[in-house]
Amino acid sequence: MTWYSDDGLWSGFSELMWPQYLTAEADELVRESPLLAFPAGSRVLDLCCGPGRFVVPLARKGYQVTGVDLNAPVLDRAKQAAADADVSAELVQGDMLEFVRPGGFDVVLNMYTSFGYFDEAEKNLQVLRNAHTSLAPGGKLLLEVFGKEIVAKNIGRTHAFPQPDGIAYMRHSVLDDWTKLRTDWTLVDGEVARSAHIQSFIYSAAELRRLFEDAGFTDIEAYGGFDGAPYDKRAKRLIVQGRKA
Ligand SMILES: C[S@@+](CC[C@H](N)C(=O)[O-])C[C@H]1O[C@@H](n2cnc3c(N)ncnc32)[C@H](O)[C@@H]1O
Repeated sequence: MTWYSDDGLWSGFSELMWPQYLTAEADELVRESPLLAFPAGSRVLDLCCGPGRFVVPLARKGYQVTGVDLNAPVLDRAKQAAADADVSAELVQGDMLEFVRPGGFDVVLNMYTSFGYFDEAEKNLQVLRNAHTSLAPGGKLLLEVFGKEIVAKNIGRTHAFPQPDGIAYMRHSVLDDWTKLRTDWTLVDGEVARSAHIQSFIYSAAELRRLFEDAGFTDIEAYGGFDGAPYDKRAKRLIVQGRKA
């Protein structure tokens, strides 16, 4: 089993991965971000949609939304969230390495560091190629990750998060000449400790731009925030978008 198909990570650490405030934040971003404002009725693919925190507000705004996620229990949460919000969205269990619907979308989103998961660099590029194939001409891909420059500012500290029944620890390590990041999570509840990890490629803005180019995108832009701020020393995330000619 690969780390990214381990439901013990996504469901077992779900409270840490998706604290309540992130759902509210996604609602606000969809309402206010110029980067997430698309023509009325756009067909939007949320690739690696998780529990649907973007699916729901996007569908509520009138877009035709498809969410794809590999892990069934996480996808079930997205289905429940859509039902609770009384919005309609297509939710598909699928692997980003394989999911392609030629010309089927006007927008492809990949949010909250859901990219770079495959050990072979070529497979990560294939994910961008798939997104390019799935876009109609003129469509755009928007991808949001913790950029390498941001990671570099925060590396080296162990973060502790108090939990209702214990405490969670998170520690980052850089691997393979700063090409990969490993994040270790430990959840301590009384005498029981559970661990999981994420290991993925990390990209600088220049590296991601190059990957977008290699996948065939044009009009590539990098941002440091969903308000359209530049990717500079104040950036809290790296957002790269590109267009299919
Ligand atoms: C960091 S979470 C982000 C979820 C969501 N985009 C958000 O903003 O909350 C990454 C998601 O990717 C999913 N995932 C992991 N590997 C995948 C793959 N190969 N194909 C599709 N989804 C995958 C996980 O199940 C998880 O829901």
